Amino acid sequence: MSRIEQALKKVAGNQAVNKNKQPDEDISPAKTVAPEKTVSVDEVPDSQTVPASTFVPAASSLKLNNPMLLTTMHGDRSPVAEEYNKLRSLVVKLTKGETFLNTIMITSTIGEEGKSLTSLNLAIALAREYDHTVLLVDTDLRRPSLHKQLRIDSKPGLIQCLKDNFPLHKALIKTGLGKLVFLPSGGTLKDPVETLSSNRMKELISELKNRYPERYVIFDTPPSLPFADAQVLAPSVDSTIFVVREGKAKAQDVKEAITNLQGTNLLGVVYNDAKTTARKKHYYYY
Ligand SMILES: Nc1ncnc2c1ncn2[C@@H]1O[C@H](COP(=O)(O)OP(=O)(O)O)[C@@H](O)[C@H]1O
Ligand SMILES: [Mg+2]
Repeated sequence: MSRIEQALKKVAGNQAVNKNKQPDEDISPAKTVAPEKTVSVDEVPDSQTVPASTFVPAASSLKLNNPMLLTTMHGDRSPVAEEYNKLRSLVVKLTKGETFLNTIMITSTIGEEGKSLTSLNLAIALAREYDHTVLLVDTDLRRPSLHKQLRIDSKPGLIQCLKDNFPLHKALIKTGLGKLVFLPSGGTLKDPVETLSSNRMKELISELKNRYPERYVIFDTPPSLPFADAQVLAPSVDSTIFVVREGKAKAQDVKEAITNLQGTNLLGVVYNDAKTTARKKHYYYY
């Protein structure tokens, strides 16, 4: 049975029968996607060499107020925080094999399933735990939301880097949340598929992947059933995490959306907002 079929079976099983199942550590390890040719793209230099003015003020001045954010939860031992910590451990386990699968795309079937929340909280969890940088990239150029969560301007960002040759290192924002660096979307595009499938985008992802070999790069994307954005990005990243929010997308649509991503490396499925588990309203995943 393929990994996708296994994932679907587990989603269906979880929805229908066993809401209290513990996270499944048995997801098969991911295969390697050969990195693209490295090209010269301006990148964020080491903190020592970056003038402080190129970064927005760091996290102490970020006023994050969403109670669902890992940073605003009451302590690392809260049940929700614990779920994210488990997600982080699982992601590390699955990505740090012989080859480090450090570029991870987050997508889902439809909107409002928790892609952005998962991207941000996973990025924060990784940045907190490891003493190396995590880069979070808002590649949802249709409805970017991460900058709102971080209360930061969306521009300049990815769009300007891709279309106007804006220097990447000037668009990167050091959040001060651990070593989390953020690349905002740079606004919105009506039809981002062409931009996201451009050689320039492939080069940029390749550069982000290879510049700092120890760094995780997480890409938040639009929903993959109505839009091709995630499909065109998937071949350029090492792996994909698929978010399924309980009670949102129909099982048939989830199946179709995952099938559309076939050929890409599905790392696992985050089962979000499982209301009927004993730990109600908390993140649940396997
Ligand atoms: N498990 C959850 N519990 C409570 N609220 C959640 C949960 N997951 C997501 N949300 C909220 O639902 C809304 C949509 O989430 P978001 O991450 O923006 O979805 P997407 O990026 O898939 O469109 C946000 O307001 C977010 O805070
Ligand atoms: Mg989103």
